[in-house]
Amino acid sequence: MSNYETITVEKNGAVAILTINRPDKLNALNSKVHEEGVEALDELRHDDEVRVLVVTGAGEKSFIAGADISEFADRTPVTQRNTFQERTLFNVIDAFPKPVIAMVNGFCLGGGNELALACDLRVCSPNAKFSQPEINLGLMPGGGGTQRLTRLIGEGRSMEIMLTGDMIDAETAYKFGLVNHIYDTAELEPKTIELANKIAEKAPIALQLCKEAVKFASRSNLDEGLRREVDLFAICFSTEDKAEGVAAFLEKRKPVFKGK
Ligand code: COA
Repeated sequence: MSNYETITVEKNGAVAILTINRPDKLNALNSKVHEEGVEALDELRHDDEVRVLVVTGAGEKSFIAGADISEFADRTPVTQRNTFQERTLFNVIDAFPKPVIAMVNGFCLGGGNELALACDLRVCSPNAKFSQPEINLGLMPGGGGTQRLTRLIGEGRSMEIMLTGDMIDAETAYKFGLVNHIYDTAELEPKTIELANKIAEKAPIALQLCKEAVKFASRSNLDEGLRREVDLFAICFSTEDKAEGVAAFLEKRKPVFKGK
């Protein structure tokens, strides 16, 4: 992979780990992180060896402490609007065809929480802290938070998080359904990789279509969603992996999926 200034990308078998690497700024998301992150994701989406992506932040103190506030100081409304309408890391993760897991260690604030929300699953360590603190800056969430958080945990809980700017701890995030699992700090990476590998063993095209169908659920009405599911399910029948999966079941053996 290319050499980046603000991120690192590491491949571990079928799992790639993209790390936001600005620990001295608690991994705050500046324009360079968005630019380099998007470039890395464009490369990873075409890398057939990679079946699952894990996104995390460098160090144990912070996943991502939000957008880089220093970039807000001189920004005009038009520049801000154009910036967030471009291919941001939020949008590109949301549209990434392979499963993405946010591995949250420490502060997960503002744009950091919005980035985690753009991922498919979220896991965290017990010291994780989540918030949408934009309101304290005279702002509101702008990287998808008002929409994705509300769809994930409901209007009442989401409203309180955004209107107070308060942090919630890992247990509360788990109770709200914001995170799927809390792993002990020492176990966070191995357990996340274990989860990623479990998913990576499944049929890649079926994973992609399933992800598309689930994402469609919160973007459509029930009838449209059910019709889309029927179509995507039927597309699975065109794959070699469906033939392999069915044959392996009937032959009482483990399937080997090739992504074809
Ligand atoms: N943007 C830019 N820089 C940030 C940042 C952000 N969102 N969050 C932290 N940093 C920087 C700090 O300015 C500091 O840099 P410096 O050492 O050059 O002064 C460094 O990261 C360490 O942060 P610091 O505030 O000293 O750590 P702390 O442990 O005392 O506090 C936080 C941690 C997360 C509570 C605090 O950094 C904070 O409130 N950050 C902003 C969170 C936020 O509002 N995010 C949403 C933005 S829309």
